[in-house]
Amino acid sequence: MPRTARDVVFVDGVRTPFGKAGPKGIYHETRADDLVVKCIRELLRRNPDLPPERIDEVAIAATTQIGDQGLTIGRTAGILAGLPQSVPGYAIDRMCAGAMTAVTTTAGSIAFGAYDAVVAGGVEHMGRHPMGEAVDPNPRFVSEKLVDESALFMGMTAENLHDRLPHISKQRADEFAVRSQEKAAKAYANGKIQQDLVPISVRRTSPEGGEPGWGLATADEPMRPGTTLEGLATLKTPFRPHGRVTAGNSAGLNDGATASLIASEDFARELGLPVKMRLVSFAFAGVEPEVMGYGPVPATKKALAKAGLSIEDIGLFEINEAFAVQVLSFLDHFGIADDDERVNQYGGAIAFGHPLASSGVRLMTQLARQFEEHPEVRYGITTMCIGFGMGGTVIWENPHFEGNK
Ligand SMILES: CC(C)(COP(=O)(O)OP(=O)(O)OC[C@H]1O[C@@H](n2cnc3c(N)ncnc32)[C@H](O)[C@@H]1OP(=O)(O)O)[C@@H](O)C(=O)NCCC(=O)NCCS
Repeated sequence: MPRTARDVVFVDGVRTPFGKAGPKGIYHETRADDLVVKCIRELLRRNPDLPPERIDEVAIAATTQIGDQGLTIGRTAGILAGLPQSVPGYAIDRMCAGAMTAVTTTAGSIAFGAYDAVVAGGVEHMGRHPMGEAVDPNPRFVSEKLVDESALFMGMTAENLHDRLPHISKQRADEFAVRSQEKAAKAYANGKIQQDLVPISVRRTSPEGGEPGWGLATADEPMRPGTTLEGLATLKTPFRPHGRVTAGNSAGLNDGATASLIASEDFARELGLPVKMRLVSFAFAGVEPEVMGYGPVPATKKALAKAGLSIEDIGLFEINEAFAVQVLSFLDHFGIADDDERVNQYGGAIAFGHPLASSGVRLMTQLARQFEEHPEVRYGITTMCIGFGMGGTVIWENPHFEGNK
């Protein structure tokens, strides 16, 4: 059978509002798999032209695949969401880039012809599954000095990156964090974020105690719109005495889920589904695990080379803000100013939160909205750093690009 690669498109993306992990967080009494189910149902509701039985795969990522994030969550969430039993599903893990990998892996399969349309997303309930839960790193990593012990603690790797790049000061990281909060607040005020959020009914106990009642989560809980440089200057540096990384210039510990519809372009056109972005190329790359935040640099170089593009061709960037220092190291490498308006126009994970394996699709959903607003832009990038020393980058083309018309 002759094979030709097919074009792959991002049809739609949604997410839950992100919550703060822990007993006071909005999702403390909500299961992780239920968050995924709500996202899948919302994708189906928003895309009635897609018969559910035409979905060929449900790929859902989670970093900690036990309990309510275990049992091959793509399959279980598909059944719980009411997809026909004939639709298969599976689970994926590449830590922070789980949802990104769910998209790229299924996209490769679409290009190959194995699937026409898939649901790809991710979830992390860091309240129910704290980072590092049940991990058992091989002692050889440390005894044979394969990695420094700090490589296992993401905040320490961010401190290491500050050490390696001393021109990235705490002041610069804090300024970046303030801007992230400001941009996120502005995006909310302009209704940019809400359009892709799935409201979640949540069971909560009021701060005064008593019987739990029901509420509706409609907005990201971690946001701190009033953040000031002065406020950030006073925060503790939990990963190292007199360090530079704080709760203010890092993403927090969060709960949330995302899901996207990815399809072959021909299939989407045939069914009349929206085409929000066209996949151009993607790449993952490894770096020293001690400075995992640098991963987006080689991943982006690789993805650009595969696409035959240069950084100057990229008109919009969605960079996951695990830590401000890590975004700044990327911007410095490519000669982009800290406040360049092409970067994270709606703010980033420092404001919204970063429920690890879910975040990749948040970046894509936001880039898709920005493409609609910017028909003068042809190419955009979603990129993120990944635990244990990796980066992932996906380059997308804007179908609304006015030069195409
Ligand atoms: C940095 C980290 C340890 C902080 O955890 P935490 O202490 O539970 O965070 P909190 O939200 O309680 O914030 C700590 C303090 O900073 C304050 N704070 C946080 N953000 C602030 C802001 N923008 N402005 C002012 N104060 C802020 C909080 O109010 C809190 O103050 P308090 O101690 O007086 O109550 C945690 O968020 C973390 O590990 N982040 C990284 C997650 C990660 O590694 N992800 C993977 C990436 S690869």
